[in-house]
Amino acid sequence: MNTEAQLARYQRLIALSRDLASTLDLDILLGRIVDAAAELTAAEAASILLHDSRSGKLRFQAATSFDPRLRGFEVPVDKSVAGWILNTGQPARIANAQSDERHFAQIGQAIGSPTHTLLGVPLRAHHKIIGVLEAINKHQGEFTPDDQEILMTLGAHAAIAIENSRLFQQFDLIAEFVHELRTPLAALQTAAHLLNHPDVNAAKRTQLAVSIQTEIARLAELSTNFLDLARLESGRSQLTLETYNLTALLEECAALIRLDAERQSLSCKVSLPAAPVSLSGDRAKIKQAVLNLLNNAVKYNRPGGSITLELEVEPNIVCITVTDTGIGIPQKYIHQLTNKFFRVPGSEKHAQGTGLGLSIVKRITEAHGGHLEVESREGTGTRFTIHLPR
Ligand SMILES: Nc1ncnc2c1ncn2[C@@H]1O[C@H](COP(=O)(O)OP(=O)(O)O)[C@@H](O)[C@H]1O
Ligand SMILES: [Mg+2]
Repeated sequence: MNTEAQLARYQRLIALSRDLASTLDLDILLGRIVDAAAELTAAEAASILLHDSRSGKLRFQAATSFDPRLRGFEVPVDKSVAGWILNTGQPARIANAQSDERHFAQIGQAIGSPTHTLLGVPLRAHHKIIGVLEAINKHQGEFTPDDQEILMTLGAHAAIAIENSRLFQQFDLIAEFVHELRTPLAALQTAAHLLNHPDVNAAKRTQLAVSIQTEIARLAELSTNFLDLARLESGRSQLTLETYNLTALLEECAALIRLDAERQSLSCKVSLPAAPVSLSGDRAKIKQAVLNLLNNAVKYNRPGGSITLELEVEPNIVCITVTDTGIGIPQKYIHQLTNKFFRVPGSEKHAQGTGLGLSIVKRITEAHGGHLEVESREGTGTRFTIHLPR
């Protein structure tokens, strides 16, 4: 490569690195890194694998062309080029991946094109290797030492940007969490203070004990939901892929919610196709999402109302719909529903909640390549639909 072309390439690297440093959303950031890696090395594709130091696992997180369900795909640390890079901290430049004994062939299958040439570098932030950046299939010829140097430099910037984004997200979420803790803690403090008072009568004492239990339940729910969401957001909680029968899963959800519904004199209707519907994804997480919607349909309903759970199957997608005849949601709040900790003003009169349920549902749905839809009319009812690709 001549000097001028090389200079242009380094200028491009600087521009891209600056762009990375200003991106705090982890998903967007990873997308930009792989795009930059493919562009700078003139490769067909690029991918990022991140190392989870707690479980020791190395997993796919992003690629230039990539089925979102592959996120979290595990690559064996002891039998892959990426694992070798992680363990040795050295870059790898491979001219014929198929004949390299370190090559893990399933990667090519996973991203839809077999690997011929490969260039991989460690992502090192603060002396720790957090993952591996790989460029796959150079458009012409083989990857050069120049390509390696430029990818190493990009990798160094990318690793710092990834760490910053993670720290920022954690801090943001924790700050909101601590803020939310203050309400139940203040209520507990007041109740404990009153209990200590000598002239509180027995009836009042019982009432205080009940409100202490309520607030503790709220703290417990808040903590569980918070942890679920923090795991989903940090990319730590990965999808466990399996093929399962969606109608059976929805039957289970309906059975779980029926008791709660009956207790509040709500009727529960279920309309599912007679034949099993097989779907691939994380069964437990989809169940969690559906239960969250059913739970809301019970909580924000009215006496004598109903809840309907339906499944519609189309060639390429399935739609899981939860409809209620409850209080509804004013139009102006619809776009805020999946914001963390958001509750429609006045919701606390109807039911206890954390405002995290729908954020979790949205995350889970999108992690499966789907989307969440809401329709609601104030005073009439609400319908949530989870659309999932088949
Ligand atoms: N089916 C529904 N009907 C009416 N309002 C709802 C419904 N589902 C959710 N909401 C509103 O959206 C808010 C956020 O829901 P969610 O994230 O599940 O939090 P939570 O149920 O813990 O309050 C609720 O507080 C409520 O105001
Ligand atoms: Mg909820």
